[in-house]
Amino acid sequence: MKSAEIREKFLRFFESKGHTIVASSPLVPANDPTLLFTNSGMVQFKDVFLGKEQRPYRRATSAQRSVRAGGKHNDLENVGYTARHHTFFEMLGNFSFGDYFKREAIAYAWELLTRVYALPPEKLWVTVYQEDDEAYRIWADEIGVPPERIVRIGDNKGARYASDNFWQMADTGPCGPCSEIFYDHGPAVAGGPPGSPDEDGDRYIEIWNLVFMQFDRDEAGVLTPLPHPCVDTGMGMERLAAVLQHVHSNYEIDLFQDLIRAAARETGCADLASPSLRVIADHIRACAFLVVDGVIPGNEGRGYVLRRIIRRALRHGYKLGQKKPFFHRLVADLDATMGDAYPELRAVRARVADVLAHEEERFGETLEHGMAILEADLASGIRTLDGETAFKLYDTFGFPLDLTADVCRERGVSVDDAGFEAAMQRQREQARAAGKFKAGGTLAYEGVRTEFIGYDALSGDARVAALYVGGSRVDSVPAGQEAVVVLDTTPFYAESGGQAGDSGEISAGETCTTLFRVSDTQKIQADVFGHHGTLVAGELRIGDKVHARVDGARRARTVRNHSATHLMHKALREVLGAHVQQKGSLVDADKTRFDFSHDAPLSAEQIRRVEEIVNREVLANAATQAQLMAFDDAVKGGAVALFGEKYGETVRVLDIGSSRELCGGTHVERTGDIGLFKIVAEGGVAAGIRRVEAVTGENALAFVQRLSASLAEAAAAVKAPASELTQRIEQVLDNVKSLEKELARLKSKLASSQGDDLAAQAVDVAGIKVLAASLEGADVKTLRETMDKLKDKLKTAAIVLAAVDGAKVSLIAGVTADATARVKAGELVNFVAQQVGGKGGGRPDMAQAGGTDPSKLPQALAGVQGWVAERL
Ligand code: ALA
Repeated sequence: MKSAEIREKFLRFFESKGHTIVASSPLVPANDPTLLFTNSGMVQFKDVFLGKEQRPYRRATSAQRSVRAGGKHNDLENVGYTARHHTFFEMLGNFSFGDYFKREAIAYAWELLTRVYALPPEKLWVTVYQEDDEAYRIWADEIGVPPERIVRIGDNKGARYASDNFWQMADTGPCGPCSEIFYDHGPAVAGGPPGSPDEDGDRYIEIWNLVFMQFDRDEAGVLTPLPHPCVDTGMGMERLAAVLQHVHSNYEIDLFQDLIRAAARETGCADLASPSLRVIADHIRACAFLVVDGVIPGNEGRGYVLRRIIRRALRHGYKLGQKKPFFHRLVADLDATMGDAYPELRAVRARVADVLAHEEERFGETLEHGMAILEADLASGIRTLDGETAFKLYDTFGFPLDLTADVCRERGVSVDDAGFEAAMQRQREQARAAGKFKAGGTLAYEGVRTEFIGYDALSGDARVAALYVGGSRVDSVPAGQEAVVVLDTTPFYAESGGQAGDSGEISAGETCTTLFRVSDTQKIQADVFGHHGTLVAGELRIGDKVHARVDGARRARTVRNHSATHLMHKALREVLGAHVQQKGSLVDADKTRFDFSHDAPLSAEQIRRVEEIVNREVLANAATQAQLMAFDDAVKGGAVALFGEKYGETVRVLDIGSSRELCGGTHVERTGDIGLFKIVAEGGVAAGIRRVEAVTGENALAFVQRLSASLAEAAAAVKAPASELTQRIEQVLDNVKSLEKELARLKSKLASSQGDDLAAQAVDVAGIKVLAASLEGADVKTLRETMDKLKDKLKTAAIVLAAVDGAKVSLIAGVTADATARVKAGELVNFVAQQVGGKGGGRPDMAQAGGTDPSKLPQALAGVQGWVAERL
């Protein structure tokens, strides 16, 4: 049975049992920055199990694309070494949200396996959780599985509920006892039944996990019953296909065979059993679908996992001898095998191939050098690769550690992971030390934290807690000195979350005799703010009472840009799609610069729509709400959290217009404060990442005024009202075009009239009329026409015509048919061309050439008569 049929039969079976077929959710879980990738079917239903979300159905079924690479569930290292590990797989599942429970779940599973897929019942084994007598009884009494094939598994992993048969989504969240169904591949394969000492062998393979979701586990490990018991099941489609296609390895099923053949074609590998082909076939599935779901190869988080998988695939291609980009070409083959089931792949196939090709080119440049270094080390017979080399391969040649480990593993060599970590740590410290003063990150500080009062106030009294000059702590700072000042309380915002630090003044004394001008504010530690600047007057000492005042106008401009960024982020998602994810932002008093994942330039129409949406929110003039709440509640309430950002337990949730984000920045009080919002630039920064820059408030006004001034100037220059400028420019261009045409016509006319006079200048040399002349203003076409006329007129002739345009000489030579036996046009033109810095040739009757030295032309033409005479 083909995989497509297996998938279809599963979904239809549960549909016939009243389940709603739900499409696979993306690999990047919506609004769950704590989970790297969707790793099973239940992820999209998490909140439904917890009773926090209602759906219009209580029974659902899905074929869910899943990735287990990086993060908690990670099978990457095993791919290529076992018969059934994958980075990407499809999980078939059925779900009950407070509807049916154990009895139906077990009965459905048994019916589907034994009747629809027609598996022999005697080949199936089941496990239940040690204490789950109910499930045991259903299997034994209602289904009739003989007791010797029902295995109870207890807390076999050391702690309460730590069991193969107690499934937990994560350290917290929905969980419950489970019952697993195993298929016995027969005595020819080594391995023992579940629960036996050699259960890890390949004979008894788990194909389906039925989870009886009953509890919500909290951080303390306390289990609270769910509002209703639920069911979550998951069957690895590739494993079931292996059983139904009577093969032992997942890689032998139809889906993989097509991809393996394609990988063999692209790498020129003849051995279809090569583990490297399996790795490539596995990896193209994960990589392509990750790109479909908005992940772009990068250096951190999800992007780095994707990069690692791509590079590992490329290394295996390299091993097979393919040193050129090949991986991206497999996207078309993947589409052929999976595009029917996953139209989202088909829709963006070309973009996926582009993103992969780009990464291939990038890594292709260093792969070969890195491999040479690694091979040299391995050839020396080492048992362990030192951490320094592994780090060098990582840092200089872009070899992810697992790629290096993969190569080493093939040679029975291990990698010094700790040494690698140490080298990495050392480099981080060096980088930090280098950026020390500006970032303020390594200024030594112990003492009071800075209390930030700048959400509500722009000025306030404070005490000096620490002073630094040139990176060292000092007790006082004299006038004229650059320094960093730490205060116990401050209204100054320190750079973070993409928002620039505040500038302003710190003063002391009744008449502000001491004045410190703050140019920037940076964090020294999470809650310790360093005010960078210069002491303009007086002296500043630790313990001094001071007054701190932020430059309010600059802050107001920054704040407008920051709030506009939130609205723009939301509008971009609305206009371009939910794949838009923030990849970086910089907000200061001048502008907002926002990077996000998207694969194509924005059209003028899309930009216009984003501007319209944001400006509509501005006009609605809604009040901004900032609230502190628990992280989980914030995300559940729809707040956009960024993956890879570290959030504390309590987060600040910002509602600006209809946008909701987690953000610690400072913002406008009402959207109307933003004023006009205008996008001023759009471009690409990396494959799949776009950047927009926008301005607000007076900056937007200034931008529009500049535009309108340029428009007015342009209109004045062409003497038209601004409203008719385009029309006028078109007119002017039309005019220019017809003038150019007219000019060309006149030139040619002039040149040919020169041609008429030229005939008279021909000199008879032994019966051949010889003529060599330069035609002012002629182009090549005119030269050719004049040549034809002269030939007609002179009857028996050898002629050279030249034209000069700047430093360029055009030459043409013609010899009438009756004279070509004696003089060859090709030789003639070459004679002249060589003297003017060129070369040429052609037919005996007509030849063309060019030159670059017009100053030699008169002399060269003068020599023509003698040259012809010599030949006759
Ligand atoms: N969620 C369960 C699993 O992944 C079915 O095994």
